[in-house]
Amino acid sequence: MRKVLLACVFALASACLVFFSRAAGQPQSAAPQFTADGKLARPEGYRKWVYVSSGYGMSYSQSPDGMQMFTNVFVTPTAYDYFVANGKWPDKTMFVLEVYESTSHGSINKHGSYQTELSGLDVEVKDETRFADKWAYFNFGSATKAASAETPSKNDCWKCHEQNAAVEHSFVQFYPELLKIARAKRTIKAGVRLDE
Ligand code: HEC
Repeated sequence: MRKVLLACVFALASACLVFFSRAAGQPQSAAPQFTADGKLARPEGYRKWVYVSSGYGMSYSQSPDGMQMFTNVFVTPTAYDYFVANGKWPDKTMFVLEVYESTSHGSINKHGSYQTELSGLDVEVKDETRFADKWAYFNFGSATKAASAETPSKNDCWKCHEQNAAVEHSFVQFYPELLKIARAKRTIKAGVRLDE
């Protein structure tokens, strides 16, 4: 009897261990989180999302001293799965674009450039009920904790993405793996320029 009891206690303890270690390892919820006053909370867990692609020197915002910036794009995992299946973005899709400073000089490097300091975080959220224009834009500094959506309605971020992005508001023309999917699913917007 004592042995059975001991075995039970052991089984329960191991089950607890598995449960708690799993819970601790869970990535943060990837759905957009808003503060009580309607600001978007900085999406802290985004480096565990799906990495989309990077750009070099193609930043559309002003860079310090004309420095060539790197941009790294991440998207929420559920949105990525939906895109692979449908070539479109579901409601609550969230993109993060990191902007990194660059250098060519350091350590053993002789040619080419690499990323150094994080200089900002641009975020884009698709939410058809919360935002009248469906897509909203947020600009976080390197440490800002919460940011309001860019205003007014149809601001410069929104306009450039509306007019030039290949699929809905996303610049899939610059993300080679997503571009293949969009081509196969025929979801590229009519009239968008993909070539020069
Ligand atoms: C003049 C055009 C233009 C403006 C204005 C603009 N963007 Fe973009 N955006 C781009 C291009 C081009 C890319 C893709 C290439 C890159 O930078 O890596 C992009 C990519 C993004 C991405 C990655 C996901 C995607 O849509 O492809 C986010 C997030 C983003 N921009 C946010 C913003 C925010 C926030 C603003 C305003 C503060 C803004 N953008 C203003 C052109 C623009």
